[in-house]
Amino acid sequence: MSARENAARVGAVCRVAIDGPAGAGKSTVAKAVASRLSALYIDTGAMYRAVGLKMLAEGIGTGPEDAERLAHMLAETEIDFADGRICLDGRDVSGDIRTDAISRMASECSALPSVRQKLVALQRAMGERRSVLMDGRDIGSNVFPDAEFKFFLTASPQERAHRRFLELQKRDENVSLARVLEDIEQRDYNDSHRALHPLVKTADAYEIDSTNMSAEEVTERVLAVILGARTAEAERGKR
Ligand code: DC
Repeated sequence: MSARENAARVGAVCRVAIDGPAGAGKSTVAKAVASRLSALYIDTGAMYRAVGLKMLAEGIGTGPEDAERLAHMLAETEIDFADGRICLDGRDVSGDIRTDAISRMASECSALPSVRQKLVALQRAMGERRSVLMDGRDIGSNVFPDAEFKFFLTASPQERAHRRFLELQKRDENVSLARVLEDIEQRDYNDSHRALHPLVKTADAYEIDSTNMSAEEVTERVLAVILGARTAEAERGKR
């Protein structure tokens, strides 16, 4: 289906997938695009982080010895979004999930089949009745393989590390750029090498390399594609 035909469907239930590695700027762009399209924005990484947070709080590990406790925990876990905040069992955990310990735990628990099964089912249900814009690693490849629009947003590891470093500095976190780059490269490796639903660019996704672009430029590019008013330059981004 062409972008123009897809655009005609905006307004009906429309699923937009934005996948890409950590630090590519997905959430900034996704929030802005969702707001312009009046679609619900769903940060699927936040959902893996919320599960990681609860596992840490309950002392549940990722090994086979804890599989039964984990299954029980997942069956009793509710995750929802309200006004752009993520709620875990009715509590707003938007701030609590943004620590380094939770980043590591989210990366580990996102490789577990039971965790992915639960969260992918929830994500599909969220996109059933209304237009959604989801960002993550496997949205276009697995959650909504038939999404009306798919984007793969990337940037060089150095640029992504630099952006993350500036963010951490703003929060007064004392960490070196070299360490941040190392972390980014490790997460890239984990996300794209896990057995289940690894990070991949699907053949039908528009790739946007944001290394030399501002978040506003990327947002406009995504909107241009979705609204079918793409220029020839944007067309070259589709590979
Ligand atoms: O986007 P993020 O950094 O908040 O994601 C946290 C972790 O969750 C990251 O290690 C990758 C994983 N993740 C995933 O496996 N699948 C998704 N759809 C989204 C995130």
